[in-house]
Parts: sequence; C-alpha cells; structure tokens
Amino acid sequence: MRVGVIGCGYVGLVTAVGMASKGHRVVAVDIDKSRVVKITKGKVPFHEPGVEKRLRSCLEKGTLKVSHLMDSVTDCEVVLICVQTPPKPDGVINLKILEEASNNLKSVFEKTPKERVVIVRSTVIPGTTDNLITPIFRDKVAVNPEFLREGSAMEDFLKPDRIVIGTESKKVKEVLTRLYKPFKAPIIWVSPSTAELAKYTSNTLLATLISFSNEIARLCEKTSKADIEEVLGIVHLDRRFYQNGSLNSEKPGILTYLKAGCGFGGSCLPKDLSALIAYASSLSQDTPLLKGVAAVNTEQPFRVVKMAERIVGSLAGRKIVVLGVAFKGGTDDLRESPGLRIVEKLLLEKAQVIVYDPLVSVRTLKDYQERGVKIATSLNSAINLAEIVIIASNASEFRSIEKIKGELNKNLLILDGRRILKNIKKDYFAVGRAI
Ligand code: UGA
Repeated sequence: MRVGVIGCGYVGLVTAVGMASKGHRVVAVDIDKSRVVKITKGKVPFHEPGVEKRLRSCLEKGTLKVSHLMDSVTDCEVVLICVQTPPKPDGVINLKILEEASNNLKSVFEKTPKERVVIVRSTVIPGTTDNLITPIFRDKVAVNPEFLREGSAMEDFLKPDRIVIGTESKKVKEVLTRLYKPFKAPIIWVSPSTAELAKYTSNTLLATLISFSNEIARLCEKTSKADIEEVLGIVHLDRRFYQNGSLNSEKPGILTYLKAGCGFGGSCLPKDLSALIAYASSLSQDTPLLKGVAAVNTEQPFRVVKMAERIVGSLAGRKIVVLGVAFKGGTDDLRESPGLRIVEKLLLEKAQVIVYDPLVSVRTLKDYQERGVKIATSLNSAINLAEIVIIASNASEFRSIEKIKGELNKNLLILDGRRILKNIKKDYFAVGRAI
C-alpha cells in the first residue's frame, strides 16, 4: 500500500521505517528541512537501536522517501499523523501542532480528491479524534496509538503485543486490515475514545507501579533491616502474575516496573500522567490516586540527594558523580530525566558535580558544563574523580562499578538510586533501605 507518515520524530520515523520494512511504499514528511536532509542521507536524528540499518535499506530499495512537502503524500491511501502533543505548563495537552498538521493535510487532499484514510498516531486525550480530527476530514478517520519503548522501539513496532484501532467506519476497518496484514499481533477494534484512553491507561499504570514501589521504599528506609528489593522480590513471586500460574514460566516484563528507584522520566510517562489528570479535571473528576503518583515521582530524585546528605552531611564542595543523565539506560533522551533533577539539586547544594552517561555526548551537556559540571567521558575517569557516586539510571555499564570499586585505592561511597548493584556491601547505600 502507499502510506504517508506526517512527522519524522521518534514515533513517526520508527513508524515510517517499520511500515516500509513490512512491504509498504512509504512517504515520510517533516516540516524541518534539516531533519529531512539528515534522514535522506540515512542518518537517524536520535539514538534508537536498529532504526538506522533499516532506514538505509529502505532508502536504498526505494520503499521509503522523505520530504518536507506535505504534497508528497497526495498519492497515499492511508496517512498516519505522528506529530508531537506536548503538555502546556499546567499539564493540559497541547493539540495545536496536531490541528495545524491536520488542516495542512486536508488542504493537500482537497487539491486531488480521492478515498483516503487518516490515522492519528500521536497520543491524544479521549475525544480528540471524534471532536477535532473527524470534523476536519469528515469520516475515514481512526486513532491507532503506539506502544513503543525508547531503546526497543523498532522491535516493539515490528512485533507489537496488540494493535489498537479506534474507529467506527467500516471502510477504515477494511483499509487498516490491509495495512496491518503483515503483522502477527491481534487487532483490537474499539471506539476512538476507548483507544485513546487505553494508551493513557497503559502508561499511567506503569507510572503507578513505579511510584507505588517508591512509596513502599520510603517505608523501608525508615524500618530497621527492611529492604525494598527483598520486599518487592517476594511480591514478584506471586504465581498470579505468571503465565498459567507457574513460577517456572518467564518473569512477566511488567514486574520490572514494580521496582524502586529515583522516579520515572522520559517523554511519555510524566506527560501522559499530567495530561490524564488535567483531562479528568476538565470533567470535574478528581484523580487522587494519579495525583499521588505524580507527587511521589516529583519528590523522588530529591530524596536521593537528601539521603546523600544524611550519609555525609553538607554536600557543599563534595565531589559527587551522577551516573546516568538520560532518563533510562539504552537511550540518550534527557527529557524529564531524574538524573538531571539530581544534578540540579546537587548544584543548588554547591556540590562539585561530575556527570557520566555512556550515550550522552559532552556537546549535549554543554549548558551544564558552562555551569561548572564536569562531563566525564568514561566510567573509570568519572569514578576516579569522585568521593560519592550516585547511580541515577539503569545503564548496564554501571554494573561494572562493583569491580572498579574493588580495584580502587580509596574509599568511595556509593548511593544506588536504581538498585542495580547486587554484591557490594562496604560503603554502599541504596534507595529503599535504612542508612
Ligand atoms: C513508555 C511505555 O513503556 C511504552 O509502552 C509507550 O509506548 C511509551 O512510553 C510511549 O508512550 O510512547 P518509554 O517512555 O520509552 O516507553 O519508557 P519505559 O521503558 O517504559 O520507561 C519509563 C520509565 O520507567 C523510565 O523512567 C524507566 O527508567 C522506568 N522503567 C522502565 C522502570 O522502572 N522499569 C523498567 O523495566 C523499565
């Protein structure tokens, strides 16, 4: 099929490359000319494993074209809109970019009328497709939320758990059945509002599990000899979580979110949580649970810094390494990163801050460098400069600290904000256990 994708950000580009890899002929459009030039040369403007190789192969085969002109999607039978829906300062979703892109697309369609289907792939609050997008395109509209995790987005796209499509049009159903024919996952057909709400529910459940774990971790920190890793480890061993009730089957991935740390971040969980709270408020519906999830998360990185203070006293002048400033390991994305919140708080406390993240370049952290933060380019060099190490992300490289610390000739305090170290005892402190 001829498929158009509007927006070559993280979701759009993965969608475009994924659809082309599955045999469709794709045109991807982005208004940012420099981004288009970069992608046309086979370069992915963000870190995402597996995308670049596939992008190059699709460009070589000619199954994917990239353009900055909306007109390029004229011949497409189906167009997926993948533009950003950022939060306003009060958490309310900003649909302006989506509305503008939709209106531009409509103008292109009007020049050469024919049957086409428009799919909203951006994350949008319930009612957006029915109330904003359908009136623009009349009918032939669906919402098809993505469930891609940064770091494994390509694989998540090619092998989805489920494909959720919200539409009430028979014609759209027929077109999208063809679009998704090359995929093995079940298609769940629902109303647009159900599809929209399911996306938020999925992300806010993950956020809830993390904040729940962090709240119990706080109790552990005030309870002698209690340890959150052991407490949650016991909870994980409940056969009701496992396939066929058998503890011998593979551990469900969802349980990795039932873990204490320094809070969730990224471009999705925090934004979706505040958008859902704001949506509920627009319906005069209070959301005490979701507000609690947000409050626990806002405080969590600061609690890690407070813990460091309780261990060593004033942090002023102390050489403190923060490991991990991307919001999680396996990505270079700094958005809503707990590690950066920790850095900010340490700067306020006048500590000498050193930062290391295997995927984040010195150039990206230039602003911090100008504010006196040292940016280390290897784990060893970072640790050599440190008196205290705070682990803020779960990048796998950080597990080797155990070995490096063993070889060091100095006392080094470790504060494990992600509970990734298992065999270290001396000078080791961690979220979710008493100091
Ligand atoms: C999240 C969802 O997991 C995706 O299903 C969804 O499609 C995506 O948002 C989106 O809305 O686009 P992502 O933001 O890439 O994906 O990140 P996750 O891997 O879920 O991580 C979110 C937060 O949870 C991070 O702070 C991370 O450190 C934490 N996390 C992640 C855990 O605590 N445990 C894990 O096993 C994974």
